[in-house]
Amino acid sequence: MSNPDQEEKPFRSEGAVEYYESKRYKSSIQRRVDQREQSTLRELLRDHVGEGGKHVLDLPCGYGRFLPLFHGLGYRVTSMDISEAMTDYVRKRPDFGPNDHAEAADVRAGLPLEDGSIDAVCCIRLFQHFHYPEWRQQALKEFARVSNRYAMVTFYDSGCLHYWSKRLLAWLKRKPVRVQMISRETF
Ligand SMILES: C[S@@+](CC[C@H](N)C(=O)[O-])C[C@H]1O[C@@H](n2cnc3c(N)ncnc32)[C@H](O)[C@@H]1O
Repeated sequence: MSNPDQEEKPFRSEGAVEYYESKRYKSSIQRRVDQREQSTLRELLRDHVGEGGKHVLDLPCGYGRFLPLFHGLGYRVTSMDISEAMTDYVRKRPDFGPNDHAEAADVRAGLPLEDGSIDAVCCIRLFQHFHYPEWRQQALKEFARVSNRYAMVTFYDSGCLHYWSKRLLAWLKRKPVRVQMISRETF
């Protein structure tokens, strides 16, 4: 699938972000997905990166879903997203810390960060919006440049049941599958 029209449109207003946060991860299934992602990420970070005094890059940050998790591990957080409405929203969150930073950036165009300035890059739920291999390569190169060691990147695995259930549902509703799934080999 390589139709640029299917690229995700960035959120344009903070009201839209607030509405999105109020609806997202609220059904029982989505709540379970959220809890699982949070606990997996917490475990990976605690076991590999460690706790306290680290600088983490949350890209794309969205509405700041993982901000409390990062703070719970004692990290300083740089939140970035292509949508300025998202980064403005994160900056105004009550839990946004004095040492945190939020800034709009498109990872494909390069990030305003020094080489090796980040202890762990966390890139959750971005690659399904990247329909071209070049975009994924640009992002991975940028993560390798800014990170001094770790980068955690999620992708939708075309070998999993979710892929086939999404395809079946889209086929039944006569709608296109908008997310891009790739194989482990491709990743
Ligand atoms: C599904 S959300 C995931 C947000 C967050 N990581 C989470 O899991 O809650 C995808 C986000 O990717 C952002 N995004 C899309 N393309 C991007 C790009 N090229 N660079 C940075 N952010 C991008 C969108 O604005 C959106 O906020």
